[in-house]
Amino acid sequence: MADYILAIDQGTTSSRAIIFDKAGSIVSTGQLEHEQIFPKAGWVEHDPAEIWTNTREVIGQALGKADLTRHDIAAVGITNQRETAVVWDRNTGEPVYNAIVWQDTRTQPIVDRLAADGGVERFKQQVGLPLATYFSGTKIVWILENVPGAREKAEAGDLLFGTTDTWVLWNLTGGTEGGVHATDVTNASRTMFMDLETLQWDDGILAAFGVPRSMLPEIKSSSEVYGTVEPSSLLREVPVAGILGDQQAATFGQAAFETGEAKNTYGTGNFLIFNTGEEIVHSKNGLLTTVGYKLGDQPPHYALEGSIAVTGSLIQWLRDNLGLISTAPEIEELAKSVEDNGGAYFVPAFSGLFAPYWRPDARGALVGLTRYVNKGHIARAALEAIAFQTRDVIEAVNADAGVDLTELRVDGGATANETLLQFQADILGVPVVRPVVAETTALGAAYAAGLAVGFWSSLDELRANWQEDRRWTPSMDEAARARLDRSWKKAVSKTLDWVDEDVI
Ligand SMILES: Nc1ncnc2c1ncn2[C@@H]1O[C@H](COP(=O)(O)OP(=O)(O)OP(=O)(O)O)[C@@H](O)[C@H]1O
Ligand SMILES: [Mg+2]
Repeated sequence: MADYILAIDQGTTSSRAIIFDKAGSIVSTGQLEHEQIFPKAGWVEHDPAEIWTNTREVIGQALGKADLTRHDIAAVGITNQRETAVVWDRNTGEPVYNAIVWQDTRTQPIVDRLAADGGVERFKQQVGLPLATYFSGTKIVWILENVPGAREKAEAGDLLFGTTDTWVLWNLTGGTEGGVHATDVTNASRTMFMDLETLQWDDGILAAFGVPRSMLPEIKSSSEVYGTVEPSSLLREVPVAGILGDQQAATFGQAAFETGEAKNTYGTGNFLIFNTGEEIVHSKNGLLTTVGYKLGDQPPHYALEGSIAVTGSLIQWLRDNLGLISTAPEIEELAKSVEDNGGAYFVPAFSGLFAPYWRPDARGALVGLTRYVNKGHIARAALEAIAFQTRDVIEAVNADAGVDLTELRVDGGATANETLLQFQADILGVPVVRPVVAETTALGAAYAAGLAVGFWSSLDELRANWQEDRRWTPSMDEAARARLDRSWKKAVSKTLDWVDEDVI
């Protein structure tokens, strides 16, 4: 049998292809960023054609760097930015509009319209999610209502919807020439349309949104053979055998398979996922209920999730919009030039506030400023904001679970920042642990694909691959922790109620 698995990680800022060996170690990587398109305040788009071209190219990079061919690849797994909506014509393969990205807030009026009857929790019992701009459902509605001709074409059965896993899968398996139009349960659980019990699209909710069922992909498990790669690809005939949304993939890659296990990923945003096993748990504290994974015919595992919209992207914003730094890692040096935040708190509510607040009316604020504050303090306040937001989410998890997390497993690009992780441990009062393979998102997708084709035989085999790299233990006293947290929560309160009807 071939010795490797290739995972495609179609992320918010870049697309990656990573080849893993049986030990779960990285053999080679290809990566390309794509354009972030901001047509108006609050709007965020990607070009689906660019995403697909980049995906093909990074597959070539990864194979080339390791001198491998398709014969060495036992299966392909896909993981993806979730909720980002692509709608395309099934006859031409052309998208009818750019992908509307998960961070995009343009659909707030559609949310308000749907919430007018029953409030934002109208569908929560069935789908685990409140009505919010974040999820893909209202983004599809926006396209149907605003792209000329889209509604008619959709009603005629000519348009397909997918999150980017589906877009990549459809193209990879042949596109207009018989491409497979499917998604997995984890991605489907982020649309607002999937019933958590039946794992099927709900016709009542689709009718309320006005979305034709014919647009939607077939919902499959996270680990099974969906199809094989089309003949013109470097990977022709290789089975595509795993799909997990990026945060669920990271959880799987962290080997957090069992009830009570959790991980926190520090990327564009931060996402904490807490496995609740085969039980559907509804949060009383602002967390989402979502599917964690489903392996073939086995029962699904569910999870509670704390989603934070802006963490690593705040560092990008300081780099790209303010020019405060020229690369993301420089934020750490700048933050270390001062001893503390100098009284400054940065609440990056750029897309409103997600978990646990769910306040679309919030906008970003930098508060506590005096003449004393310099750019080092602002860098520090930005890093602290990532950790404070995580603390808010963990307080919600602890309240829902009734027991406190005793340590936090972390991964993602920003976990390269040790100053951040020390502050995270300090502000949580529990140890923070980073594994050797921090690319857990791609690893999780590789695991799902490898399990489906027998490359790996059991979850135990995967668990044995997990290795601790480093651990940060708290060194802050309780009084200091409480004081900082009080100021943070006061800063959050200053961002609320900002948006008015005529002010974005
Ligand atoms: N040393 C660092 N300190 C703080 N933040 C960092 C550092 N290095 C990278 N980042 C941030 O981490 C993010 C990239 O991490 P990662 O590649 O895991 O993101 P991601 O969310 O997976 O990306 P994508 O959304 O494309 O999947 C960027 O937002 C970047 O600003
Ligand atoms: Mg990612």
